[in-house]
Amino acid sequence: MAWQRVASRSAIPDGGVVGATAGETPIALYAIDGRIYATHGICTHALALLSEGWVEDGKIECPLHQGQFDIRTGKALCAPLEKDLRTYAVKVDGDDVFVDLAAQGAS
Ligand code: FES
Repeated sequence: MAWQRVASRSAIPDGGVVGATAGETPIALYAIDGRIYATHGICTHALALLSEGWVEDGKIECPLHQGQFDIRTGKALCAPLEKDLRTYAVKVDGDDVFVDLAAQGAS
């Protein structure tokens, strides 16, 4: 698949998360230490939007049952999570953020 523009860089607060879509796929975009990361937008445990969760120390905490994922790797870090989160490759060009759903994010 190809790069898709998904958001403006300026719309992603440093240390925060915003939701977006790539085609029909919900994703979550994070800014950590000046770098942008992308993961699938829905928790692997149940139907919760990670963009409504909390970012801390490079982790996203799910708003529904407080499961945590490593944002860079997508690794599930604690119960009740059993499945890792997909990560996606990100490219920033000026104020445009692009995601490639076919490519895994660099951790
Ligand atoms: Fe995310 Fe349960 S839905 S931890």
